[in-house]
Amino acid sequence: MIIAIDGPAASGKGTLARNLARHFDLPHLDTGLLYRATARALMEQGRNLADKAAAIAAARGLALTDFDEASLRGREMAEAASIVAAIPEVRAALVELQRAFARRPGGAVLDGRDIGTVICPEACTKIFVTASAEARATRRALELSAQGGRTDYAAVLEEILRRDARDKNRATAPLVPAKDAIVLDTTALDAQAAFKAALAIVQGTRSVAARG
Ligand code: CDP
Repeated sequence: MIIAIDGPAASGKGTLARNLARHFDLPHLDTGLLYRATARALMEQGRNLADKAAAIAAARGLALTDFDEASLRGREMAEAASIVAAIPEVRAALVELQRAFARRPGGAVLDGRDIGTVICPEACTKIFVTASAEARATRRALELSAQGGRTDYAAVLEEILRRDARDKNRATAPLVPAKDAIVLDTTALDAQAAFKAALAIVQGTRSVAARG
């Protein structure tokens, strides 16, 4: 069983993917970490994020064990990730790693921007998680202040809108719901309510698959 969760920044897709993975006892891959780790490798080498050849080499050199999440999670890395993620060859270099993860026996939960459209078009359940930009900025600002950081709601909203625009408008694997994805709007839902709604979606798609 492959569950593909896509959606924009701070839509709640990561929390949802983790909860679904725990519930179904499946491995979970947060694919944003791949792009964040690629960007970090470039920064550590003192390279420009637009250095295509270095970005491709960094993406090709990644292994799933490279992720020290705490150091990849920051706002700066999110912005940097969205720049390298727009390079088609970087995306191509990361496809097989993600597909191999998805093909694990028993299945997997993957979350990102193009899981339902490009990485796992065969996934039995595709959920496109979304929420208003204001709700997403409020969540991200709360998360940041809980981590002790200084937060400026207006700046967080601006970052989210800029990243949304870059992710939606890139030529390769833009952020868009797959044709057969079910859209889950979490603007008015807390994490528990979003999880319940997603479980109902998974159960619905599994019974359709069982009948078909
Ligand atoms: O958690 P948040 O949604 O803020 O960020 P993320 O999922 O870690 O993604 C960071 C950036 O990586 C995104 O803005 C995308 O540009 C890129 N990304 C992507 O292009 N494709 C994916 N499957 C996952 C992330």
